[in-house]
Amino acid sequence: MSTLSGFHGGWLLAGAACALSMLLIPRALAEDAGNLYDTLVDIRLGERYFERQCGRCHGFDATGNDEAGGPDLTGRLTRGSTDVAIFNTIRDGIPGTAMLPVPENVPDPQVWQLVAYLDSLRYDPGSVVLAGNAESGGELFWSGSDCADCHMVSGRGARFGPDLSRIGENRSPDDLLADMINPQEDVAPRWWRLRVTGPDGVTREGYRMSEDSFSLRIMDDDENLWSLHKDGLQSYERIEESTMPSYAQSLSESELDDLVAYLFSLRREEI
Ligand code: HEC
Ligand code: HEC
Repeated sequence: MSTLSGFHGGWLLAGAACALSMLLIPRALAEDAGNLYDTLVDIRLGERYFERQCGRCHGFDATGNDEAGGPDLTGRLTRGSTDVAIFNTIRDGIPGTAMLPVPENVPDPQVWQLVAYLDSLRYDPGSVVLAGNAESGGELFWSGSDCADCHMVSGRGARFGPDLSRIGENRSPDDLLADMINPQEDVAPRWWRLRVTGPDGVTREGYRMSEDSFSLRIMDDDENLWSLHKDGLQSYERIEESTMPSYAQSLSESELDDLVAYLFSLRREEI
């Protein structure tokens, strides 16, 4: 990625400036970045807090407590299983139920540590039997298909889709299959694209890295970041579709099973 900064006919090419502006992004965008508090230490702290504040209703190992009415939190969650959905459930509570919001004075990082702890419990690979073969799936991912043209796993691959290094921790095998055959469902705003024409008449398209009322930032297909003020634009188009093709036709059922097995095996390295 370029570290140049300068104006090019009204366009600001922003590379190094990116890290600084991370400090200023609003909450909705911060959430798009995923859980920043998910080291093993965070998980331990989340676990400790869970045992104290949540265990009496959800059971101390989070497998549920029938008497108190708190559901099992170790499998698929009915209120949404993404990190952001779990964060919102804990932060805001579930109106009309015993599930109250955490107190206001609990800072967001502590809530994210709870999310990290709950993530660490879900989809235990030992308890799931899969039809596919993870090794064949890995070969398909890296050389038999175009997945790595867009996705990164453990620092290898590309940035034109979500980093899949730990995708097995928070997607069930069914979710992973759906991701591949139905990529247009639930496209997160982070993966929308913008097609904009600047004051200089140049049209650019790229991933929508951030956007507010006044400005936007996109990453083009060469991984350059561009910042632009909205009031100078000649045209603006938002494309809320995924760039990922569906593999329902191009891959066989057993190839998809192998890919699911491979993706499901991608988790935090145990230490
Ligand atoms: C007083 C009991 C009680 C306490 C304390 C409590 N919960 Fe809950 N929680 C519930 C109940 C009941 C539900 C189910 C509400 C519903 O969906 O009808 C629930 C639901 C949830 C869900 C959504 C489950 C799903 O399937 O989507 C999450 C996540 C959750 N709780 C996390 C927590 C965390 C983390 C804490 C501690 C900060 C906590 N809860 C404390 C009673 C409690
Ligand atoms: C042209 C780029 C591109 C290609 C090729 C591609 N993907 Fe994707 N993929 C994306 C984008 C962008 C998203 C996020 C938007 C969405 O949900 O579709 C995504 C989402 C996903 C997700 C869901 C990730 C999450 O965090 O929810 C999985 C799993 C996935 N892709 C797997 C694959 C596999 C396996 C292949 C190869 C068979 C593949 N992708 C090929 C761009 C691509």
